[in-house]
Amino acid sequence: MNNTLLILPGDGIGPEVMAEVTRIIDWFGDKRGLKFDVTEDLVGGAAYDAHGKPLSDATMAKAQEVDAVLLGAVGGPKYDTLDFSLKPERGLLRLRKEMDLFANLRPAQCFDALADFSSLKRDVVSGLDIMIVRELTSGIYFGEPRGIVEEGGQRVGLNTQRYTEAEIDRVARSAFELARKRGNKVCSMEKANVMESGILWREVVQKVHDESYPDVELSHMYADAGGMQLCRWPKQFDVIVTDNLFGDLLSDVAAMLTGSLGMLPSASLGAPMENGRPKAMYEPVHGSAPDIAGQGKANPIACILSFAMALRYSFDQGAEATRLEKAVEQVLADGVRTADLMQSDGGSPVSTAQMGDAILAALDASL
Ligand code: NAD
Ligand code: IPM
Ligand code: MN
Repeated sequence: MNNTLLILPGDGIGPEVMAEVTRIIDWFGDKRGLKFDVTEDLVGGAAYDAHGKPLSDATMAKAQEVDAVLLGAVGGPKYDTLDFSLKPERGLLRLRKEMDLFANLRPAQCFDALADFSSLKRDVVSGLDIMIVRELTSGIYFGEPRGIVEEGGQRVGLNTQRYTEAEIDRVARSAFELARKRGNKVCSMEKANVMESGILWREVVQKVHDESYPDVELSHMYADAGGMQLCRWPKQFDVIVTDNLFGDLLSDVAAMLTGSLGMLPSASLGAPMENGRPKAMYEPVHGSAPDIAGQGKANPIACILSFAMALRYSFDQGAEATRLEKAVEQVLADGVRTADLMQSDGGSPVSTAQMGDAILAALDASL
């Protein structure tokens, strides 16, 4: 079977971190005989600059055909004043929605070498390995009605939180399936105390559990308390399943348990395609980091680990994914650090490309 990839580097540090992923993809082709048929295209502000839209229909169509999309990051101050429908972020949201990528897997793993770097104490984070499953195609991000409307002589900003039973059911199944391959525990987070959508969320997750996954341990938590528990004792969790907005917030919180937002990968998965592979897009959790863009400072690890997730979930190459993850772990153990992984007073950081060099060298050493 051909392995097809669409690479969308995007904006800001997106192209900088993606350049390192491209070298790693080539390494797997040269050294492991894993050939990828790669196409590169534009998304976000870069696409707006070229076509006047954050995602062209042609790029959208290509994304629907490939085995996996790899996305860098979108957005930046240059585009802040654009009409809402033209903003870079709309390109990313269109990809997620039209590919129906409902399950966004955001693992947060603390590499031992970084345990002292987290803003939390070593004890709290060392050995941490949790998985946030964020619903990605519905909820308040997409609910109607929405907009800025006139009401009683003033403007009103309007968004709607909306979940159907089927939408909750399918993301809950993804979380339970994942839990069975990990620590066999799911914690579902919502605000059933104040939101009807939260009440339904809790009911449906419980029903899916009771009917199909009684062997998995299930708990429920209000999402605000969940944020607190993530900082207090994150190792109590294995898989967390939550809605689109809470998942966005809680995964950024989880980033700091690992040391840096520059460390967190993600996989956005949909239903299986005809060839049995899930529709999929892989992207770091971080954004385009305008404050450091163009300076060669960005940490490419989140994007590189996103490619490792692609190897595992789209290409059935679990052993090669582990090889890549181990190479990253080795480099961190050797003390190689981009600027985001250093205390302000310690040592001199490596550049984005030097981090790529070090990971490639560790991959060579793994042969
Ligand atoms: P951000 O994630 O871009 O940056 C937050 C902070 O983390 C910054 O200080 C940045 O320098 C740092 N950081 C992020 N990634 C890093 C990396 N790989 N290496 C080192 N440091 C890193 O979030 P923001 O500043 O709130 O948003 C900037 C833009 O990115 C906005 O337009 C936003 O909409 C967009 N965004 C896009 C995505 C995406 O494309 N998936 C995700 C989040 C934000
Ligand atoms: C993320 C980002 C996106 C989101 C934005 C850029 C649309 O913050 O992927 O975490 O809110 O989902
Ligand atoms: Mn986010």
